[in-house]
Amino acid sequence: MKKPKKILIIGNWKMNLNVSQASLLVSRLDKHIKTRKGIEVVLAPSMLDLQPVSMQVDRRKFRLAAQNAYHHDEGAFTGEVSFTMLRELAHYVIIGHSERRIYFKEDLDEIRDKVSACMRNGITPILCIGETKTERRAGETRQVLHDQLMTALSNLTAEEVSEMVIAYEPVWAISTFEGDIAKPDEIGKDLTFIRDQVKELYGVQTEEKVRIIYGGSVDDHSARAYLEIPGCEGVLVGGASINYHKFAGIAEAAYRVVKENAEEKE
Ligand code: PGA
Repeated sequence: MKKPKKILIIGNWKMNLNVSQASLLVSRLDKHIKTRKGIEVVLAPSMLDLQPVSMQVDRRKFRLAAQNAYHHDEGAFTGEVSFTMLRELAHYVIIGHSERRIYFKEDLDEIRDKVSACMRNGITPILCIGETKTERRAGETRQVLHDQLMTALSNLTAEEVSEMVIAYEPVWAISTFEGDIAKPDEIGKDLTFIRDQVKELYGVQTEEKVRIIYGGSVDDHSARAYLEIPGCEGVLVGGASINYHKFAGIAEAAYRVVKENAEEKE
C-alpha cells in the first residue's frame, strides 16, 4: 500500500517580527506544537529572521522556508539574496505569492526563472498560484491557473515537478486583499483542476507525488474543513501563523485529520 503523504502546515510570517519577536514566537511554537506523525510543519520567517531562527529551531520538528529569493546565483544585484545563499538555511522557498505578483510586479517569466533557480539549488519550491476576484467573476479562473502553472513549470522535468509544492491561493481569499472566506466546496474543484493539469502534462506518477495545498485566510477554526477537501494536502497560513495559539491549533487540526484517516483505513 502507498504511504500517505504528510500534511503540510506552512506558516508565512510575511514582513512581521524583528529578531527578538521571532525568537519568542519560535519558543512558543516549540512548546505548543508536538512532533506528530503524518504532519510536516514549516516556518517561513522574514529573510532577516531566517538565520537566527535556523540556529534556534528544532529541525526535527520544524522545517524552514524563505519567502522569496532572486533567480541569479550571485553577482551585482544590490539588495537581493539568491537561492544559492539560502541552500543551507531553507528547505523550501515560497515563489509567486500574490503579494509579490501584485506589489512587486513579478511576472510569469520571472516566476518561472525563480522556480528553475530554486530547483537548480536543491531547494523545494512552494509555488503559489491563484486568480483575482475579477478574474473569477469573469469565468477566467481555469485560464489563469493554467497560465500561471504552465509557465512556472516550463523548464522542469516531470521528476522535478513531482518534488514541488503547489499552493492554490485565490487572491480574493487572502487576508491582505479582499480576504473573503472561500467555502471548501467552492474551491475543491479548483484544486482538482490543478491536479488534473499536472496529470495531463506530466503523467500520473508526477501527479501522485506533487503536493497540492490551499492558502487564504486559514485559521485554527477553518483549517480542518480545508484539510478535508479531497486532494488538499496541506495549508499555507499567513496572518494566523504569527499567533502561536492559532498556529498550534491548525497543527492539531491537521493531526486529527491524519488520525481519523488512519482509523478509517483500519
Ligand atoms: P492569510 O495569508 O492566511 O493571511 O490570508 C495567506 C497567504 O498569504 O499565504
